[in-house]
Amino acid sequence: MKKTLIELKTIHKSFGKIDILRGINFIAAAGKTTAITGNSGEGKTTLLSIMGLLQKQTSGSILIDGKDVADTDIAELSKIRAARFGYLFQAPRLVGSLTVLENTLVCAALAGKNNMQKKAVALLTSLGMSNHLDYKPEQLSIGQMRRVALVRALIMEPDILLADEPTNDLDPALSQIVTSSLFKAGENGSAVVIVTHDRFLAAKTDCEYNLADGFLQLVR
Ligand SMILES: Nc1ncnc2c1ncn2[C@@H]1O[C@H](COP(=O)(O)OP(=O)(O)OP(=O)(O)O)[C@@H](O)[C@H]1O
Ligand SMILES: [Mg+2]
Repeated sequence: MKKTLIELKTIHKSFGKIDILRGINFIAAAGKTTAITGNSGEGKTTLLSIMGLLQKQTSGSILIDGKDVADTDIAELSKIRAARFGYLFQAPRLVGSLTVLENTLVCAALAGKNNMQKKAVALLTSLGMSNHLDYKPEQLSIGQMRRVALVRALIMEPDILLADEPTNDLDPALSQIVTSSLFKAGENGSAVVIVTHDRFLAAKTDCEYNLADGFLQLVR
């Protein structure tokens, strides 16, 4: 059995009167890759951000290593986020005043790791970004920003890697490279949860769910 890293129990999320998530149960286990598909607006990004402790659920609980995070204070929560999670957001969200290389090191620095430069350069190079290390985000294409955000997420070898539409805005060759980086993280023991419309990517995961009408349904 693969070790459960994070468990969601009956998660509900409402925005005003609208119930977006209506009772989500989900487990992410070490070394397992999971795809979550679903139509636009069904709540995939919302679910991923709740799973990533970035947004609060309306009700239901989240367990990390079997422990409910409900009573965890803000400082401890940010520690958990920095130490355990890697995030690849739907919009790349880079820090505008920092260079490409600096952006990839931000989260590592927050987690107290300051010796990641070599690794960052190697990862950026593998994604075709070696000539852009000193660029600022505003000088990049969206696809290039995504690659920088990917390196930022991968560099810490996070226990839980959450990726929201990771292959959007990428050409087929780069999609392939990004896809294989995500699966490599899974092989190295990360629990990898990928929200995607990309059939090729979804089909390669260990299991796939579809989010519709506020519920997750196992596809395979
Ligand atoms: N902060 C918020 N306040 C109010 N409504 C919100 C908020 N965040 C999300 N929503 C609503 O929740 C629903 C789900 O949004 P979400 O971004 O999770 O969808 P999604 O499945 O990721 O869609 P897409 O495939 O287009 O990215 C949408 O109807 C959206 O308007
Ligand atoms: Mg989304």
